[in-house]
Amino acid sequence: MATHDYRIDFPILNPQNNDKPIIYLDTACQSLRPRQVIEAMNRYYTKFPACSGRSNHQLAATVTRLMDEARQQMARFLGASRMEEIVFTRNTTEAINLVANAYDFQTGDTVLIGGKEHNSNLIPWQMLVKRRGIHLKILPPLSDGSFDLPGFEQAISGGVKLVSFGYTSNLDGVTLPVEQIIKLAHKRGALVMLDAAQAAPQRKVNVRALDVDFLALSGHKILGPSGTGVLYGKYKLLDAMNPFMVGGDTVATSTYETCEFLPVPEKYEAGLQDYAGVIGLGEAARYLQAVGFDAIQKQELLLNKIMTEGTIDMQGLHLIGPADPALRSGIFTFYIDGIDSHRIALMLDQMANICVRSGQHCVHSWFNANGIKGSVRASAYFYNTEEEAELFVENLIKIRKVL
Ligand SMILES: Cc1ncc(COP(=O)(O)O)c(C=O)c1O
Repeated sequence: MATHDYRIDFPILNPQNNDKPIIYLDTACQSLRPRQVIEAMNRYYTKFPACSGRSNHQLAATVTRLMDEARQQMARFLGASRMEEIVFTRNTTEAINLVANAYDFQTGDTVLIGGKEHNSNLIPWQMLVKRRGIHLKILPPLSDGSFDLPGFEQAISGGVKLVSFGYTSNLDGVTLPVEQIIKLAHKRGALVMLDAAQAAPQRKVNVRALDVDFLALSGHKILGPSGTGVLYGKYKLLDAMNPFMVGGDTVATSTYETCEFLPVPEKYEAGLQDYAGVIGLGEAARYLQAVGFDAIQKQELLLNKIMTEGTIDMQGLHLIGPADPALRSGIFTFYIDGIDSHRIALMLDQMANICVRSGQHCVHSWFNANGIKGSVRASAYFYNTEEEAELFVENLIKIRKVL
């Protein structure tokens, strides 16, 4: 199917729902949702708005079955060996925090991360430095944003407990050579966690083929409902760890002094869950698989080429990341000397209804280390058209002329 066929599925892109058509180039923040996902959520609220697992009536039985189906769907989506390896979370951030807090890190353990991690894969480790006395090592990227493989080999030689990297960067769209990283890390006895928030929307992730130990993703970046996410973990690791958040739904029984935890994954899913969200997330994974990652990558490259080539000669424009759009997925991040990035984003919005993100994209550490104030990020997806990418370029050229 072509982009135009998919666009009909996204209500916000339907001209009947909008006086002025929007050009949505902010998918790296949150993707749009197709009606199939919205309808799956609505079905929960209108037909069986009950608890999963707890009650014995027929509505609860339906929710329990649909929650299991969504877990199976996400296990297939990620190539997990069993559905118990899928823990539902609110987002990538919660999934990373879960590992940081539930894994038994000891004083003196080393965690290695990259130099352009999202705050969600930086701050949880900084907290462990304070609370448990771990060492946090940072591996900076090369000057064009690509991964420093020799530097990595050196960095892991000193004994590292866990390596945690952003699979695809939300700053510049660069994807890491994760197969090599995981093999090298395992050879040195280190566990590997991947923050797949930006990788999962645009490439087939197979946790078993990768042999990755933990992987985090956000549902709202893969066409799913806001505030949904997944932590994948190898069963034996999840089984061995103690839960981070505890309470209702995590225990089989309790006395006034003790409790017996439920098995994986329930012991990590404390309290009543976002049933509508999880059911919608399963539908999103189904939809995304039907679109197919080859088609997604092809469209992202086409659009990123238009944005990159159309602005290449713009005076004062600095691209963040490698020059080749094929290395940046759907992400085009830049700043223009002397112009506030928020001003550019506001003007794109006001002039042409173009939605982009401006600022430091939750990678403040990289901006501070490089002395750069902020940037504009346009992120395209399979539902964006060539005309939209061309309008982005046209309007940016107009803005450059007046500022
Ligand atoms: C690479 C990366 N990691 C982590 C996150 C955090 O995701 P969430 O806010 O859904 O937890 C994001 C969100 O933009 C991201 O792009």
